[in-house]
Amino acid sequence: MSATPEMLLRYATRLEAALTAELDQRAPLVAERLLAAMRYSLLAGGKRVRPALLLTCYAACGGRDPAQAMPAAMAIEAMHTYSLIHDDLPCMDDDDLRRGQPTCHKQFDEATAVLAGDALQSLAYEWLAASPLDSELCCQLLHSLTIAAGCRGMVGGQMLDMAAEQDGEGIDILAVERIHLHKTGALLRWSCEAGARIAGADDAQLAACSRYGKAVGLLFQIADDILDVTASSAALGKSAGKDAAQNKATYVSLLGLPRARELADEMHAMAVEACAPLQRAADDHAEPHVKQSAADLLQLADYIKEREK
Ligand code: IPE
Ligand code: IPE
Ligand code: MG
Ligand code: MG
Ligand code: MG
Repeated sequence: MSATPEMLLRYATRLEAALTAELDQRAPLVAERLLAAMRYSLLAGGKRVRPALLLTCYAACGGRDPAQAMPAAMAIEAMHTYSLIHDDLPCMDDDDLRRGQPTCHKQFDEATAVLAGDALQSLAYEWLAASPLDSELCCQLLHSLTIAAGCRGMVGGQMLDMAAEQDGEGIDILAVERIHLHKTGALLRWSCEAGARIAGADDAQLAACSRYGKAVGLLFQIADDILDVTASSAALGKSAGKDAAQNKATYVSLLGLPRARELADEMHAMAVEACAPLQRAADDHAEPHVKQSAADLLQLADYIKEREK
């Protein structure tokens, strides 16, 4: 197990300050209870892995001004938080605990949680649309985010995840991979690709970030499935043991813990290999922040595999 990397904590602190300021600004304009629920879930202290991936890919591709990429980082965190609020609803995974506190619908009520999720999704697009980027890039990012978040991405994956609860014996390894790549992988991969695009990456850099994002996306959910059976609710800040209780299709349920761990290792190796071109380019690079960010990509892959929550 590895400690949370310093760099991830730094990114999280910056992100949370920006999220807080944006929500505060909206206070006079938004129904008090709705904003309270949005704030409650968004500022509950998630790991902020997606924004960190976005900002690290941005810097590893030569991006110099993190302020350029910050609205996109905020957008992906708002989108992710919406997905968590809805994932926890009684009609979905029916969870009571999230980010170490009662889930949004437990703290407020179901209707408020649905609306807070909806509002965070809209806010994601609003922040991205208002990014200080040229309009063609902005349009590309909005378009790709609609795909990553929607029926061809996260929402589609959530549907497959729910349907698989009933499918029992009919599920094979390809079906599990499909669920994971969609429900979790799509937003993680978007984060990496968006960071590269905002930095003005060339084709080789973009391809490297995209392959890296696909590998860490799958790795992220394999690790989540492993933690569901190996960690405690107190350590996770969410209910452990839920996947078996709800008959979820996971690598652990299908193949057992040892093989799921091997697959996590394989996916980690793929992530490392995928970002190797960025490491090589960084070695020739004069700018220390590019070198550091290329190294940070390796550290993030390690963390995603070894994390304790
Ligand atoms: C949990 O995501 C949901 C999955 C996609 C597995 P995270 O593990 O990133 O949750 P937070 O944001 O740190 O709370
Ligand atoms: C959730 O997967 C993926 C999302 C799109 C939110 P899980 O249902 O395994 O996530 P946790 O374990 O509740 O965080
Ligand atoms: Mg779920
Ligand atoms: Mg869940
Ligand atoms: Mg889970």
